Amino acid sequence: MSLVQIEQIFPSLTWRIRHEVMYPELPFDSVKLPDDFDGLHFGLYADHKLTGVVSLFQKGDVYQFRKLAILADVQKSGYGSQLMNYILDFCKIQKASKLWCNARVNAKEFYYKFGFHETEKTFFKDGYDFVVMERDLQL
Ligand SMILES: CC(C)(COP(=O)(O)OP(=O)(O)OC[C@H]1O[C@@H](n2cnc3c(N)ncnc32)[C@H](O)[C@@H]1OP(=O)(O)O)[C@@H](O)C(=O)NCCC(=O)NCCS
Repeated sequence: MSLVQIEQIFPSLTWRIRHEVMYPELPFDSVKLPDDFDGLHFGLYADHKLTGVVSLFQKGDVYQFRKLAILADVQKSGYGSQLMNYILDFCKIQKASKLWCNARVNAKEFYYKFGFHETEKTFFKDGYDFVVMERDLQL
């Protein structure tokens, strides 16, 4: 069992893991989002090593998360779930009405586990099929 800590991090700290895990075939700069400096970014440290990242963007009381990524060699160890639960709690504390994401179709089942459902919005980008998934947060 490793020691897990989740904390807010600078935008630039997300880029290496985003690139390595999600878009290794694209140039490094392509993982930098134009609105990164308007977002909130969280890092999961396992035994003090940055192991996973996720970014949150707010519009009114609606939040979008982007670029959830866990280092490949420790995927399926529960870290993605811990980050997901962390941002769900964060959004609830902020009294968000909704959390949504552009989900890679091959990660859909992961998001079902956290109460997200598919919308009818789908698209293809950078070699991947995406579907917009969302979850209402207010009862
Ligand atoms: C998707 C991702 C964030 C999940 O994080 P993780 O730490 O590997 O996931 P967890 O170990 O917390 O998995 C929790 C559960 O979801 C399942 N799961 C994880 N990734 C999955 C996937 N891609 N598809 C379907 N199920 C998945 C696990 O098997 C586990 O199931 P269980 O509870 O029945 O055992 C991570 O695998 C990742 O970074 N993948 C590559 C990048 C990516 O696809 N990001 C999402 C883009 S939308």
